[in-house]
Amino acid sequence: MKKQIRLNLIFHTSGRHDAGWKTFEDPTGLVDDIDHQIAYAKLAEEAKFDAIFLPDTPAALGKSFLRKPRRGLDPVVTLAAIAMHTKHLGLISTAQSLQGHPYLVARAMATLHHVSKGRAGWNIVTSQDDYMLDALGLSADAKLDREERYAKASEFVEIVTALWDSLPKSAIVADKENDVYIDPALTHPIDYEGKYFKSKGVLQLTGRYEGERPLMFQAGISPESRKFGSKYADVLFTSQPNLDKDRAFYAEVKGYAEGYGRNPDHLLVCPGLYAVVAESDAKARALKAEIDEMMDLNFLILQLAGQVGLPIEELDPNKPLPVELFDKIPTDDSVIQYRRDDIGGVSQANGFTVKQLVHHNLTRGQRTIFGTPEQIADIIEDWSDTNVGDGFNVNAHVQPLGVERFKDVITELQNRGRYRKEYAHASFRENYGLPASPKV
Ligand SMILES: Cc1cc2nc3c(=O)[nH]c(=O)nc-3n(C[C@H](O)[C@H](O)[C@H](O)COP(=O)(O)O)c2cc1C
Repeated sequence: MKKQIRLNLIFHTSGRHDAGWKTFEDPTGLVDDIDHQIAYAKLAEEAKFDAIFLPDTPAALGKSFLRKPRRGLDPVVTLAAIAMHTKHLGLISTAQSLQGHPYLVARAMATLHHVSKGRAGWNIVTSQDDYMLDALGLSADAKLDREERYAKASEFVEIVTALWDSLPKSAIVADKENDVYIDPALTHPIDYEGKYFKSKGVLQLTGRYEGERPLMFQAGISPESRKFGSKYADVLFTSQPNLDKDRAFYAEVKGYAEGYGRNPDHLLVCPGLYAVVAESDAKARALKAEIDEMMDLNFLILQLAGQVGLPIEELDPNKPLPVELFDKIPTDDSVIQYRRDDIGGVSQANGFTVKQLVHHNLTRGQRTIFGTPEQIADIIEDWSDTNVGDGFNVNAHVQPLGVERFKDVITELQNRGRYRKEYAHASFRENYGLPASPKV
């Protein structure tokens, strides 16, 4: 059998494109209309995506997100509603692993797993955004350096997984004669005392559905994040600036997995991609350009000026980015220096004008691919064969068109024997081709 490709849909409420919401006649429900989310999830299931992935950050409005809708609904509650209207789709919810208590996440994810009959996934994130800290009443001093961040996240994950296993189904003996519903001798109470978290006792529901745990996903970039993810996760989400870095990431994390005594094939790697599908490459580019024009160009240029640390007056929309000014206007800010190298490099490599550059930059690091279903399928097959990823997180440019069109890419991959034709199993884990959870 040819190597099978996994595909998740990143569940943006109106599409990945920042102006996607302007294509809706009435965009006011995009943050809180559950019917909209359900309709969209059904479309993803019709297209036979393996899963939908809900990125999430508490207090997302603190960032510059007043200019476009963010999904406001809580991800676990949203996915529970979606679970009632879908049958096979994996349901990946983001939940923080630094703030809050692991017990609450263990319970919420286990609940989603039961409600969806074995389809829950937890995207473990370690962000410590200022807006989130403010909203949660935590001071900036609560920020941890990377090493501590992942040490704390490790405790979080260890508690969650131990809790999931603390009440095996077999402990629910339901012995009517002797009035014993749960036999405590068959439970595995935890007694965890870490540096950051403590937890004692048994989760009040089984953390597994038909013997399988929720799938664990992890999203991060740093070296510490790679080691952490390779140890605990089933799947790593990543976003690298170029294909060579993707391949290096792939090789590195598979090596770490082996070092942790795991079969590297059981750790899947899923980079993001941004696909615009049409009848031809030119039509796909025109489709994106049409939506690009709906953006406020002055705002985008102002943003770019801030990103690369140049005065806005120096940025003419119809001329190239003046990279020669980087030396004349030096910066000691390492983030701006990184962006100068990155954005300046992209601008020069493509011969972009500032206007073209800001429109390109809209995808923020997501690799953009344009073309017919066949052309997109060629690229995905090649990336799968050359170890860019085992699967991909698909960003569709606008909804629902982006998903409707991507369905043809999936059909093409199915015809080439690279994607399963049907959801073969009931559980997300099996559909993803991963081995059974460790026995308790
Ligand atoms: C592909 C990808 C997706 C992410 N999704 C989220 C998310 O939905 N919510 C969130 O708070 N952080 C998200 N993050 C942020 C990471 O969890 C992490 O905080 C960030 O990458 C910084 O950590 P690092 O420097 O160790 O990589 C994501 C990161 C990546 C690479």
